[in-house]
Amino acid sequence: MKISKLMVIGAGQMGSGIAQVCAQAGYKVILNDLKPEFVERGFAGINKLLTRNVDKGRLTEEQKQDILGNITTSTDLKDASDVDLVIEAAVENMDIKTNIFAQLDEITPDHTILASNTSSLPITEIAAATKRPEKVIGMHFMNPVPVMKLVEIIRGLATADEVYQVIEDMTKTLSKVPVEVNDFPGFVSNRILMPMINEAIYTLYEGVATKEAIDEVMKLGMNHPMGPLTLADFIGLDTCLYIMETLHQGFGDDKYRPCPLLRKYVKAGWLGKKTGRGFYTYQ
Ligand code: CAA
Repeated sequence: MKISKLMVIGAGQMGSGIAQVCAQAGYKVILNDLKPEFVERGFAGINKLLTRNVDKGRLTEEQKQDILGNITTSTDLKDASDVDLVIEAAVENMDIKTNIFAQLDEITPDHTILASNTSSLPITEIAAATKRPEKVIGMHFMNPVPVMKLVEIIRGLATADEVYQVIEDMTKTLSKVPVEVNDFPGFVSNRILMPMINEAIYTLYEGVATKEAIDEVMKLGMNHPMGPLTLADFIGLDTCLYIMETLHQGFGDDKYRPCPLLRKYVKAGWLGKKTGRGFYTYQ
């Protein structure tokens, strides 16, 4: 199994980041989303980040054009009819994902591997929407994708060893570090990260300290690059709540109960950096 052409579904922050690193590694990438304006925005974001790299002398203008030339845009899933790999980075909703995977199962050739960038939804359940569960796998990139080294590679119950190996090798060609994980709620990254963020929100909710103090403790005391409340704003509070709910339901254990303050902020539409307000305000 050799991967040369792939489709990335979802041109948001994660999808466009994934498309960028794949194009930088020389793969032909189709960046797909529902509407032309979504793919245009994703492509413009990639162009902006590459231009910054040119300005900083890390890329030549020619290299930038080559990378951009590796990316085509699409609003039709049928454009996946000749790809070797699909990486799905659409919204975190099981019905939407299973619908996409069922369509991809019909559209793509038999050899195509179908990967999901889901941050916590079960790969095994997504795979069950297809007739090729052995070729379905999780590739969980971290935000911001161009900077973060890790890709969690999640084996679904039926994922074939050969498929795992192809994806592990491909991940290394992106200059990322693959880490093998089994399919349980939140995998490893969000099983550990989200309860920490949730606990930081409880700490604020219970008046133990101010938001600035909580972030300062974790930054200076634990050497985290961002405090947990800043990080929650960066990830998106709706995403944090969704992942906590997935952990809560998946394990049935109250230790994963989302903090009421997190629910309140999400209900208020204070979703973090992307809406201009979360625990902090943004211009
Ligand atoms: N896209 C691309 N590059 C970016 C970027 C972005 N959104 N944000 C920052 N960068 C780059 C900058 O260009 C800069 O690169 P150079 O130094 O080469 O110019 C570099 O990152 C450092 O940026 P800054 O100096 O502006 O800021 P910083 O030192 O604070 O680093 C950070 C920014 C890398 C985001 C750092 O704060 C960090 O590592 N934060 C934690 C990120 C994290 O935990 N991510 C995981 C989130 S959880 C997740 O993704 C999984 C999930 O399922 C929810």
